[in-house]
Amino acid sequence: MELIDAIIQRRTARSFISKEIPEDVLYSILEAGTWAPSHSNNQPWEFILIGAETRNRLREMYAAYMEAGPLKNPELEQERKQGIRLFIQNFGNAPVLLAVSSLPAQTELDKYDFPLATAAAIQNILLAAWEQQIAGVWLSFGMNPQAEQLLQIPEHGKVAGIIALGYPEFIPQAQERTPVAEKIRRLP
Ligand SMILES: Cc1cc2nc3c(=O)[nH]c(=O)nc-3n(C[C@H](O)[C@H](O)[C@H](O)COP(=O)(O)O)c2cc1C
Repeated sequence: MELIDAIIQRRTARSFISKEIPEDVLYSILEAGTWAPSHSNNQPWEFILIGAETRNRLREMYAAYMEAGPLKNPELEQERKQGIRLFIQNFGNAPVLLAVSSLPAQTELDKYDFPLATAAAIQNILLAAWEQQIAGVWLSFGMNPQAEQLLQIPEHGKVAGIIALGYPEFIPQAQERTPVAEKIRRLP
């Protein structure tokens, strides 16, 4: 697969078939994460593979959080709510759930750089997965303090994303992108 095709065609999937990701494939996908750029090559990330017990606790927390917040929003369409409720039952039945965290940052520079490099690692992971017909969803729920505690994130560490990965049951249509010309600002 051409890199540009993977970049453009990669989609977020939120429902997965019941097919395990072979261990060597998962390993190669995570390894792609380690090839992300980082300041002085400091590689400030950790990949936390979430087992059944932790997943169960996380699922309960996530469902409670969504029910108490986003799903209470009267402006959210019923269809969207249904989709979210289906997903939160068990992360769309994704066979792999992982958290990608940035290591504890002490200096101002590290506080700035560590999460950025870690986000780059996540993008690598999603692209490497896509090349293997595996898709994922990047969840923001890792910013929740209870989730951080469950995932045993040390002080000054941060969860950049919780990622559900698997072979997609369904690939959603691409959402429109703003033309790049509207995203460019030129300075003299
Ligand atoms: C930092 C970040 C946080 C995200 N958080 C969530 C999330 O909490 N729940 C979710 O369903 N999707 C989440 N997404 C996925 C986006 O909704 C998705 O990337 C976007 O709609 C564009 O769709 P595409 O990835 O298929 O191009 C997140 C993506 C990023 C980069």
